[in-house]
Amino acid sequence: MESPLDHTTARALLDWQIELGATDAICDAPVDRYTLADKPKPKPRLAEPAQVSGAPKVDAVAEAKALATAAGDLAGLQAAMGRFEHCELKRGARNLVFSDGNPAARVMIIGEAPGREEDQQGKPFVGRAGQLLNKMLAAIDMGRAHEFSAQSVYITNVLPWRPPQNRDPKPEEIAMLVPFIQRHVELVAPDLIVLMGNISCQAALGKRGITRLRGQWAEAYGKPCLPMFHPAYLLRTPHAKREAWADLLDLQARLRGST
Ligand code: URA
Repeated sequence: MESPLDHTTARALLDWQIELGATDAICDAPVDRYTLADKPKPKPRLAEPAQVSGAPKVDAVAEAKALATAAGDLAGLQAAMGRFEHCELKRGARNLVFSDGNPAARVMIIGEAPGREEDQQGKPFVGRAGQLLNKMLAAIDMGRAHEFSAQSVYITNVLPWRPPQNRDPKPEEIAMLVPFIQRHVELVAPDLIVLMGNISCQAALGKRGITRLRGQWAEAYGKPCLPMFHPAYLLRTPHAKREAWADLLDLQARLRGST
């Protein structure tokens, strides 16, 4: 029988893994990947049609479009995303994070991607950034829990799966998930959309540069969109809250029909 590790050694090994970037325990027993080296590796799934000679071509974007278009309601869309197998982020995530809030809301907020807490709870914006988002919305008398559609919001993300170590999504990952967001917007049919941060702007507008884009109304998914600083950025950069406040007031004015 293997001798159990003493506390100090176990602690040192854990610290070492955290130092290397591990954030979650994925399974109960360790896996020695070197002994698996000879096993055939799964073929990479590509966003664009694969160019590997002889291999069947996978057009992940076309498949996402077909699944998304066939979804007749939000539950169907969530199920369709659960069946989509071409995004490798899915394999490292605990949960598919679909949405929160009131589907009848006039405002739809599109964030970037789930973080650790969101992945664990299966709900968007429940960590520190989410708490700040709740406060920002409360400041203009809105919130995800409001029963009245005029004051409530509906919240989702570009990516339904947490990227490993919260890395930025790759362009092909964004591209294959856009059909699902497009359909999500069609099904919720909000009056206005808030694009939270650069990834959300990249998916909707095809460009980044939130410092320039924020506060400038644009159109995407067939709706007026307001790009705003992401609450996670505001936590790191508190002086930018002034601009975020101006954007919230602008959103409120637009909802009241005065701009
Ligand atoms: N940041 C996001 O963009 N979305 C979340 O759900 C959480 C943090």
